[in-house]
Amino acid sequence: MKTLTILGATGSIGQSTLDIVRHHRDRFAVDVLVANANIMQLAADAREFGARMAVTADEDRLEELRDALAGTGIETAAGEKAVLEGAARPVDMVMAAIVGVAGLKPTLAAVEAGNTVALANKECLVSAGELFMRRADERGVQVVPVDSEHSAIFQCFERHNGARVERITLTASGGPFRERDLQSLHEVTPEEALKHPNWDMGAKVTIDSATLMNKGLELVEAYHLYPVSADQLDAVIHPQSIVHSLVSYVDGSTLAQLGMPDMRTPIACALAWPERIEAPVERLDLVALGRLTFEAIDPQRFPAPSLALAALKRSGNATTILNAANEVAVEAFLQGRLRFTGIVSLVMETLDAAEREGVLGSLSDLDDVWQADSYGRRRARELAPVLQAQV
Ligand SMILES: NC(=O)c1ccc[n+]([C@@H]2O[C@H](COP(=O)([O-])OP(=O)(O)OC[C@H]3O[C@@H](n4cnc5c(N)ncnc54)[C@H](OP(=O)(O)O)[C@@H]3O)[C@@H](O)[C@H]2O)c1
Repeated sequence: MKTLTILGATGSIGQSTLDIVRHHRDRFAVDVLVANANIMQLAADAREFGARMAVTADEDRLEELRDALAGTGIETAAGEKAVLEGAARPVDMVMAAIVGVAGLKPTLAAVEAGNTVALANKECLVSAGELFMRRADERGVQVVPVDSEHSAIFQCFERHNGARVERITLTASGGPFRERDLQSLHEVTPEEALKHPNWDMGAKVTIDSATLMNKGLELVEAYHLYPVSADQLDAVIHPQSIVHSLVSYVDGSTLAQLGMPDMRTPIACALAWPERIEAPVERLDLVALGRLTFEAIDPQRFPAPSLALAALKRSGNATTILNAANEVAVEAFLQGRLRFTGIVSLVMETLDAAEREGVLGSLSDLDDVWQADSYGRRRARELAPVLQAQV
C-alpha cells in the first residue's frame, strides 16, 4: 500500500488523481486531503476514500467541514498551519495540485518532511525553482513531474546521458485561439477562453493555455527539472495534443512520449513510478488520428513563451514577478477588468517596471521569493487599470 496525500484534492488534477486511486484501491491509501472552498466535495472524497484527515485552507469553513464529516472518525482541520502540517505528515507520496503560488508553502512543507512529491503545481518552480529543487536535493526528495509535458520529458530523458541531450521541445496545443488574428484576440471573452479544445482543466491553467503563458511557465519548469540551459529549451504548436514533448540527443535521435490528452495518464505514471499501472483512459489509435501536425509559435500573437524564457535568462526573481503578475492578470481578465491581450501585456509591463525600479535580482531565500511575489502583485494591480484604459 502506498500512502498518499493530495493537496488541491477538489480541483481538476486532484479529482483525476482520486479517479486513479479509485481504480487501484489495493495499491493506494489516502492519508490527507487538502482543499480550500469546496467543502462538500472534500468531505465526499474523504468519506469515499476513507481518508485519515481532511483539511481546508479556509479557517471560516472548519465548522462546515466538521459537520459534513461528523461521525466518520475522519480528523478535520483548517487554516494555513493545518495545511502545512497536513502536507508534512509522513506519507509515500504527496500530490501537489494546489493552483497558483498558494501551493508553494504546502509543497515545500512536504519536501521538508522528506515526502516524495508528485508535482502538478507549476507555479512552485516558476516562483522559486532554484530554492525548491535545491531543498528537494538536500532532503533527498524525489520530485516526479505530473504536468503532461514534463511527464513526457521525464519518461524520455536518459539521466545517464544528460550531457548528451541537445534540446528539449515542449508541445503546446495552441489553445482555442491558435488561428485568430491579433485584432480579434483583443475581443476574446472569458467564456470563450475557458473552452479548451483538448484538455479539461481548472480555470487558471485554461486561461494560461489560451494565452500560451502556460507554455512559458512550463519552459521555466523544465529548466528547473532537467539539467539543461535555457537555450536548449523551445516549444512548438501541436494542435492534436498527442505528442506531449520531445527530447533530442546529440546522435540525432529524438525521443517523444505519446498518449491521448487525458491527465490521468501522467498522473498514473507519477503515482506508480517506476512501475506502470492501468489507467482508465482512451487508447491511442494513430490510424484513426491520421495526422499529427506541428507549427511554430507566432511571437506577435503569442509572446508569452518567449517572455518567460527571457525572464528566466534575466534574473532569479524575474520569473517570480512574472508568475505573480500573471496570476493577477488572469484574475482581472476573468472578472472583466482586463482584455485578453492585456494579460500578457500586463506581465510585460510589470517586468519592465521591475527592471526600471531596480527590483530585479537573485533569490537567496524564501523571503526574497515573497518580496518579489508581493511586488509583482502590487505593481500588476496598479498597472492593470492603466493598461485597460489605453486601448
Ligand atoms: N488541470 C490540469 O490538467 C493541469 C495540467 C498540468 C498542470 N496543472 C497544474 O496543477 C495545478 C492545479 O491545477 P487544476 O487545474 O487542478 O486547478 P483547479 O481545478 O483550479 O484546482 C485547484 C485546487 O487547489 C485548491 N486550492 C486553491 N487555493 C488553495 C489554497 N490557498 N490552499 C489550499 N488549496 C487551495 C482548490 O480547492 P477548492 O476547489 O476547494 O477551492 C482546488 O482543490 C496548477 O498549478 C496547474 O497549473 C494542471
